[in-house]
Amino acid sequence: MINKNGKQWFDTNGNPIQAHGGMILKHDIRYYWYGENKNANNTISSIGGRKVDFIGISCYSSNNLKDWCYEGLVLEASNDRSDSLYKDKIIERPKVIFSEKTKEFVLWFHYDYDDYLYAACGVATSKSPTGPFKVQKIFKPNRKDSRDFTIFKDAEKAYLIHSSDFNKTTYISELNETYTDVTGLYTKALVDQEREAPTMFKNQNMYFMITSGTTGWDANAALYSRSPFLFSPHKLIDNPCEGPNYRQTFYGQPSYVLEVEEQFYLMLDHWVPENLQKSGYSILPIDIIGNKKRDLRINWTDSPFGGKY
Ligand code: GAL
Repeated sequence: MINKNGKQWFDTNGNPIQAHGGMILKHDIRYYWYGENKNANNTISSIGGRKVDFIGISCYSSNNLKDWCYEGLVLEASNDRSDSLYKDKIIERPKVIFSEKTKEFVLWFHYDYDDYLYAACGVATSKSPTGPFKVQKIFKPNRKDSRDFTIFKDAEKAYLIHSSDFNKTTYISELNETYTDVTGLYTKALVDQEREAPTMFKNQNMYFMITSGTTGWDANAALYSRSPFLFSPHKLIDNPCEGPNYRQTFYGQPSYVLEVEEQFYLMLDHWVPENLQKSGYSILPIDIIGNKKRDLRINWTDSPFGGKY
């Protein structure tokens, strides 16, 4: 199946890939793509927003980053109204990390009510990359709200990077050794900048974040920031995108930065607000430029991974 950037993608059975707001994890020799399954019609939330009732978190696996085999729902909605995973809940932007200490896969997700006012994190664990994951806790990290987020591993330590203070400020919160909780140590990275959809990567001792603005499902201009230290304020620099539609991030919104063979790639969701299940994806190479390799440049390519995979 040939998938094209910006469009819906298809799995090895020819079905649309339902893995929005997601990430790709490499484990042993296989890649696992986790994301939101939005395979249903839109509904309208209690505050008039567009949403799809919670169905579950999907997993797809691949050995070549091209052919994606559906592995099913690794976390599923419940039909029980009293269950924390009842379908009226918002469960978004799943990120999975493997703990060498516990040999468990740890799934983090944004957990919310349909008015987005609860703003918490969920943590679930599984012995297998293809689940099922069992919810361990739903909580506010360091008693802060948490909406869009990513998980970033730096050597053996991992961090939760989350939009907080009603999306005004992006925090970096240290995770414990098992990656299932925060330690209490946190810092403000982007203060009062109103950034969402955070992604993070490190190149040659420089930490880069690519984030979106806060316009819901509508595309806006991405910005990157950098800092030589992770646990410190990061400086916003510029929009990394170039060429047609660069101010709308090519009509995409960041979900994750993935490294493959020493090349970084930005994963984008191409939301279709009026019918979210039809939303597409792109995976674009990130060029690191300048004489000190301190700046980023992202160009559109029709083929995922710039055609490399
Ligand atoms: C976006 C966010 C998405 C989703 C959406 C709802 O800003 O990045 O993950 O929450 O808002 O409107």
